Amino acid sequence: MNSNHLQQIQTFEAYQTTYAKSCENPEAFWSEIAQSFLWKKTWNKVLNWDFKTAEITWFDGAALNITENCIDRHLANDSGKIAMIWEPNNPTEAARKISYGELASEVNLLSNVLTELGVLKGDRVCIYMPMIPEAAFAMLACARIGAIHSVVFAGFSAQALADRIIDAGCVAVLTADGMFRGEKKIELKKIVDEALLQTPSVQKCLVYQHRNFDINMEVGRDFDWCSLTANAATHFNAVSVDSEAPLFVLYTSGSTGKPKGILHTTAGYMVYAAYTFLNVFQYKPGDVFCCTADIGWITGHSYVLYGPLLNGGTTVLFEGIPNYPDAGRFWDLIDKHKVSIFYTAPTAIRSLELYGKAPFEGKNLSSLKVLGSVGEPINEDAWQWYFENVGKMNCPIVDTWWQTETGGIMISPLAGITPLKPAFATLPLPGIQLAIVDDKGNELYGNDVAGNLCIRYPWPGMARSIYGNHERFIQTYFSIYSGMYFTGDGCKRDEDGYIRITGRVDDVINVSGHRIGTGEVEDALNEKGFVVESAVVGYPHHIKGQGIWAFVICEQADIDYETLCNELRQHVSVSIGGFARPDVIQVVKGLPKTRSGKIMRRILRKIAEGETNAFGDITTLLDSSVVEQIIEGAQVFLRQKS
Ligand code: PRX
Repeated sequence: MNSNHLQQIQTFEAYQTTYAKSCENPEAFWSEIAQSFLWKKTWNKVLNWDFKTAEITWFDGAALNITENCIDRHLANDSGKIAMIWEPNNPTEAARKISYGELASEVNLLSNVLTELGVLKGDRVCIYMPMIPEAAFAMLACARIGAIHSVVFAGFSAQALADRIIDAGCVAVLTADGMFRGEKKIELKKIVDEALLQTPSVQKCLVYQHRNFDINMEVGRDFDWCSLTANAATHFNAVSVDSEAPLFVLYTSGSTGKPKGILHTTAGYMVYAAYTFLNVFQYKPGDVFCCTADIGWITGHSYVLYGPLLNGGTTVLFEGIPNYPDAGRFWDLIDKHKVSIFYTAPTAIRSLELYGKAPFEGKNLSSLKVLGSVGEPINEDAWQWYFENVGKMNCPIVDTWWQTETGGIMISPLAGITPLKPAFATLPLPGIQLAIVDDKGNELYGNDVAGNLCIRYPWPGMARSIYGNHERFIQTYFSIYSGMYFTGDGCKRDEDGYIRITGRVDDVINVSGHRIGTGEVEDALNEKGFVVESAVVGYPHHIKGQGIWAFVICEQADIDYETLCNELRQHVSVSIGGFARPDVIQVVKGLPKTRSGKIMRRILRKIAEGETNAFGDITTLLDSSVVEQIIEGAQVFLRQKS
């Protein structure tokens, strides 16, 4: 089947009619969109679904390779067009520009290397890499040979990496010697070496020399990337895979238990990433798109890599951080590469806001047309600051709500089309049927309502399972509110029908846009011998959105507080990663528990928010005097914050 151009919505009226059409006949709607891709074989049935068993298939019977849609189909007319611009951590180093033609060669070389190393269709491959083009080549090469990539953010510890490799049963790891994030040196290969002590499934490790760090290479297991690609062929026939063949696994945190490997499959994810990229950002040929997310998160998957490439766009890969070498780094990057669409997280915006106007001096931001926000609720102040100082009041801001599980953006304005309201994700995209329900699962119809955000109908980009644990997939997302996908977020629909996301309603916290399960941090804290028990909650943080507040009961009453904090923070870094270190550690004598032994986190959350009174019903508490003690102890930290 031949590919045509995807349809782009151009007006608000067109959005409204498209939305209505997409709900009346979703299969016809998505089928028409799917026609614009390159398929090796067409589908028999657009959609099969059952939310009770969480069995969902899109474009059943079809076959394709996503990389032919990301790369090959642009080669005839656009082989010289820049697909990727790499901006290094250190701005004095040269940027790299990679054309679609070069991208094709690089991905083919690596596809041949992976095949020679014995990686087969369906195998899982772990990618633990810096934000460099090779990370993108790695993902695409996996997809080209039909292997399943599992990218692990290169900020996770050796233990967290090992856990993810073991869970997915990865046969190979692709990594680099190391990298700098700002001034911080991170020795990735060392971390991988440590992780691989625990992972018998890994047969091969391919290492890209990025910074010339000294590394250990284990004969028979470790291979030098460049030596192997130097001798490989530049042609590789993309492997044909079924629509529902897994494309990737990406780990994310939930309320309870270990992180889950969210499984996305090929065709539906492709159609959804491409469609949402084109429409939300209103991408036009010639635009330079820059999403600052790391490739280790879903935003990096869908909007640094797949979305832009599926549309033949130019995407910027940024290796650095917003405040290195100074707080003008983003603005330099926009000026230098003439970025037209800039997509970042509220945390970054809030941290840069503190530096005022000086970092903008001498930077020309006139290339910008559209701004985006993702990962956490954006407060009105940060929205206004972004709009005025970065967009110079000329660029619409798309506040995009979505999740690892949704594959792509779900609720968002279409840039320049949907009337905006600061801090509102506004309206669902075509194909997305929302439901707001109360705690009992009753749907709240009409406007001016608040409740739990659910989705009542499948969309192509939705996750299909949790790797190796479909039952957990059903339990987590489809069993809480019968017949619906539950997002874990709360929201309100205002008098105009606009959606505002109010944040998680479960025990997941969002720290600087990083999703962390409170249970994971508790498990890490409890591993320390002197910790008897702990409870972790999120609290409002002016830059990070949420901070981590840990309440711990210690065995030794005389332990020095500084030492205790250092040891606990260090242990969380080792067990999860530096980004999960608690901001506040409060030693307590007891935790508020119900008679059945359940910790009442609701009370702890309120205390961490500075509440001293209104705790709602606490009659079920075993011993209400602990609450008084915790409130008293919390005052010290609350005073420090204000
Ligand atoms: O709570 C919501 C928040 O981030 C969660 C999803 O996290 P993750 O799977 O890591 O994906 C982040 C990037 C898509 C959601 O459940 N979230 C994401 N975007 C927004 C948001 N909260 C408010 N507004 C947003 N625009």
